[in-house]
Amino acid sequence: MKATELLREDHETLRELFERLKLSRDREELLPTVEKEIRIHSQVEETLFYPAVREVDGAWVDAALDAHQQVEELLEDLIDAVEEEEEFERIVVDLETHLNVHMDEEEGRIFPQVDERLEEQLDELGSQISQMRSELEEEWREAA
Ligand SMILES: [Fe+2]
Ligand SMILES: [Fe+2]
Repeated sequence: MKATELLREDHETLRELFERLKLSRDREELLPTVEKEIRIHSQVEETLFYPAVREVDGAWVDAALDAHQQVEELLEDLIDAVEEEEEFERIVVDLETHLNVHMDEEEGRIFPQVDERLEEQLDELGSQISQMRSELEEEWREAA
């Protein structure tokens, strides 16, 4: 599968997880999955995808890395707030907003350029991403 298709699927998973996280009473059960999905997604993008995107738009990649950092900080705040209802609800909305702005930008602005300009690399990048994803999933399973 093409790298950009795989990453779009991750984004859909994340959007659905946040819908559930906002409604769910068992957020403590759901939060580790949210944490895992965000961290694995960021890691595969930063390690495999963004270095290729640099050929297309280097300045955007720098901004994207800042966005990932902000998401990571909000995720840590969210984990810390798991037992404080109001605080948790505030941070969940904030984190979801940051994440959505970033993912919409990737899908709207970056993926189409990458699809066009890096077309011949996308399948190979996609296999690397799936492979790294499975390895990271395995690490998370072992650590759980
Ligand atoms: Fe990203
Ligand atoms: Fe992404």
